[in-house]
Amino acid sequence: MAIQNVRLDSDGDSPSAAAKSTSLATAVATAPDRLGALASVGELAVANLAAGALLSVQDLHVHFPINRGFIVQRTVGHIRAVNGVSFHVNPGETLGIVGESGSGKTTVVRAVIQLERPTSGSVFFQGEQLVGAPSEVLRDARRDMSMVFQDPYGSLNPRMRAGNIVGEPLKAHRVFETDDEYRERVGELFQMVGLHPGVASRYPHQFSGGQRQRIAIARALAANPQLVLLDEPVSALDVSIQAQVINLLEDLQDEHDLAFIFVAHDLSVVRHTAHRTAVMYLGKIVEMADGDEIYENPLHPYTQALLSAAPMPDPVTERKRERIVLTGDIPSPANPPSGCVFRTRCPIAISDCAEIVPRMRSTGSLTKRHEVACIRAEF
Ligand SMILES: Nc1ncnc2c1ncn2[C@@H]1O[C@H](COP(=O)(O)OP(=O)(O)OP(=O)(O)O)[C@@H](O)[C@H]1O
Ligand code: SF4
Ligand SMILES: [Mg+2]
Repeated sequence: MAIQNVRLDSDGDSPSAAAKSTSLATAVATAPDRLGALASVGELAVANLAAGALLSVQDLHVHFPINRGFIVQRTVGHIRAVNGVSFHVNPGETLGIVGESGSGKTTVVRAVIQLERPTSGSVFFQGEQLVGAPSEVLRDARRDMSMVFQDPYGSLNPRMRAGNIVGEPLKAHRVFETDDEYRERVGELFQMVGLHPGVASRYPHQFSGGQRQRIAIARALAANPQLVLLDEPVSALDVSIQAQVINLLEDLQDEHDLAFIFVAHDLSVVRHTAHRTAVMYLGKIVEMADGDEIYENPLHPYTQALLSAAPMPDPVTERKRERIVLTGDIPSPANPPSGCVFRTRCPIAISDCAEIVPRMRSTGSLTKRHEVACIRAEF
């Protein structure tokens, strides 16, 4: 088995400054003459864009400084919430991102839409580099890319009526000509998510959790985006309501050819929705695969453990299945383990795992890619 890995730097810290605002389309067009620019843009991002990706994220890092001191503040370390993440999303498809609490899922999606400014790496959306981009570029990008936040209770302004909440992006991006057009569009958005337009004058506290999430989805769809970032859109809802909201999202995706990044705690939530699934652990993607591949043939011990914990609908299979119980908590992202970040909980770790940072290795075909970051994964 060919293993391509990398020995640790002295402190395993991130690369330097944020990427420049470069049009990826320009970089692709002029790549043969500008090898230097191509290298800074990143070969993977170029390849993804050339293949028609809507979003291409490469080697994304988000490190939060840890400051100490009362009068004079000093930075004494960094929380490496996202520590070198790469992926792409094609038009109309869903990328599922799954991982335990604290693995960096929310920070990734917030960095994609630039609510969190990345420490380094690139985020190309519709061919534009968003990292370090001027505010006009970000404003345009946020019309075509929107977000549904993790908490359906905290993400809606309690002092605003539902109609104004849903209509906010229409005003921000001036996507209507007249007041009648605005009102018509707000009514349409309520209907689109299965709510009666008559409830537009109510305040958020007058809705149930599921209805609030529908309002958040209507707001996210208001300006006709191409990509919606869904940060645990169903985790706070009852199981019966979860299925309704997932079905609604799938219908909306088909009708409007939307692409989604769907963040979840649990692989079973995204299994039937995602066209590709990425598993995150301590700021890194440890495994990612197209279609059902990750569920049928998990290669990373962490993915295997997550899947072994998922309940089976068939009671006989449920009784027979072998559970892999992970011991210990997820380590602190302020002080991640050397080598493979999963090694402190990995049931098959060897001494090399403390020394070697496992690189993503690919298997499968171009249409069914499977990537894993483990020096012991065999395929
Ligand atoms: N603004 C911030 N400042 C400092 N640390 C942060 C900040 N935001 C997130 N973190 C830390 O970064 C790590 C990743 O957090 P994040 O919210 O992205 O994880 P998550 O996978 O979304 O978790 P959950 O499933 O609980 O929502 C955590 O250790 C968190 O405490
Ligand atoms: S690299 Fe080592 S510690 Fe990491 S998942 Fe593979 S076997 Fe486990
Ligand atoms: Mg989160």
